[in-house]
Amino acid sequence: MKLAVVGGGSTYTPELIDGFARLRDTLPVEELVLVDPAADRLELVGGLARRIFAKQGHPGRITTTADLDAGVEGADAVLLQLRVGGQAARDQDETWPLECGCVGQETTGAGGLAKALRTVPVVLDIAERVRRTNPDAWIIDFTNPVGIVTRALLQAGHKAVGLCNVAIGFQRKFAALLDVTPAEVHLDHVGLNHLSWELGVRLGGPDGENVLPRLLAEHGDTIAGDLRMPRQIVDRLGVVPSYYLRYFYAHDDVVRELGTKPSRAAEVAAMEKELLAMYGDPALDEKPALLGKRGGAFYSEAAVDLAAALLGGGGPSVQVVNTYNNGTLPFLPDDAVIEVQARVDGTGAAPLTAPVLDPLYAGLIANVTAYEDLALEAALRGGRDRVFKALLSHPLIGQYEYAEGLTDRLIAHNREHLPWA
Ligand code: G6P
Ligand code: MN
Repeated sequence: MKLAVVGGGSTYTPELIDGFARLRDTLPVEELVLVDPAADRLELVGGLARRIFAKQGHPGRITTTADLDAGVEGADAVLLQLRVGGQAARDQDETWPLECGCVGQETTGAGGLAKALRTVPVVLDIAERVRRTNPDAWIIDFTNPVGIVTRALLQAGHKAVGLCNVAIGFQRKFAALLDVTPAEVHLDHVGLNHLSWELGVRLGGPDGENVLPRLLAEHGDTIAGDLRMPRQIVDRLGVVPSYYLRYFYAHDDVVRELGTKPSRAAEVAAMEKELLAMYGDPALDEKPALLGKRGGAFYSEAAVDLAAALLGGGGPSVQVVNTYNNGTLPFLPDDAVIEVQARVDGTGAAPLTAPVLDPLYAGLIANVTAYEDLALEAALRGGRDRVFKALLSHPLIGQYEYAEGLTDRLIAHNREHLPWA
């Protein structure tokens, strides 16, 4: 089996390699190609990746290249984990929306739209090149904003599935709190990427007993503390929102808080510098603890499970992915991309039946789906007016004065990435 990782020079890559090494029985990787235009990073990350494989006795071969076409040739699956414009562009996304009193975040709100506009054309170009060399390859998209990017890929007819680590993070956390293995925990995870709720936590399988009420009664403080939301809110909802819901439920607090500290991009950039220096040390042969301070925990395990299910072998499995709605949430169009439990096998991902949703969640999901629709239009076709409409439609923006101010800033800060601007 051959896999290619586009954006393989990312400082996240050792997380992925560590997962491939530990879980080689699930996913027997023979060849892994790290593809990245940044030669300096690629050398450092590639070196550490090989040492991790060697230490763990993994027989797979790891190569690196800046040549996308050569890198993906013959790959059974291609993982996309790239970031157009790097942390510098992210820093902007997290900063200028604050000038308008709006949240500055890499995937939520105006910053997320900027990221979508920069990213969708690049990802589509990569996917087209993958298809040309390798029509049967699966594309696993971890590139944010995952919902919009996955929709762009599916709409263009690619064999793609979107992946995020929020659900697997909850699964691991709840398993530890319940003192059971992660495989025993099934989540009624419903919503969109970075806009999801755990409506139930089931033991033993998707139809198992729902232990969420017990979990909240016994561990509500821990769960709410991790989300940085008041316990009462979680208790009143009776479900567990993802931490991205804080940008909605506590928007103004978050804006105030973000205004008083360096951006997450600045923090990550500093960490990346340190990480790359560590990766250059020939004595390092495992993922360093510092990597645990990044947000990507368990990404590798989710990626291994997904690739293993898509590439056959183990038979179908149930996991949380981003894919077409196809009637699962009846209030959304079939071609909306949702994030839910799905049965995954060699033919792709098919959502399981979802619970009936309270309007409290359905309303927000429908609104953000409409935004994602307009955001994708803007990303594919460009134009100030499309950017403005996408921003106006977003539930965290909504007023034309905000939308105007944000449109101007988005375009001014992203000109080099937007051919139409
Ligand atoms: C989580 C999210 C990812 C996001 C990451 C940010 O993993 O699911 O979509 O990219 O956090 O982490 P960072 O360390 O870059 O802030
Ligand atoms: Mn994510």
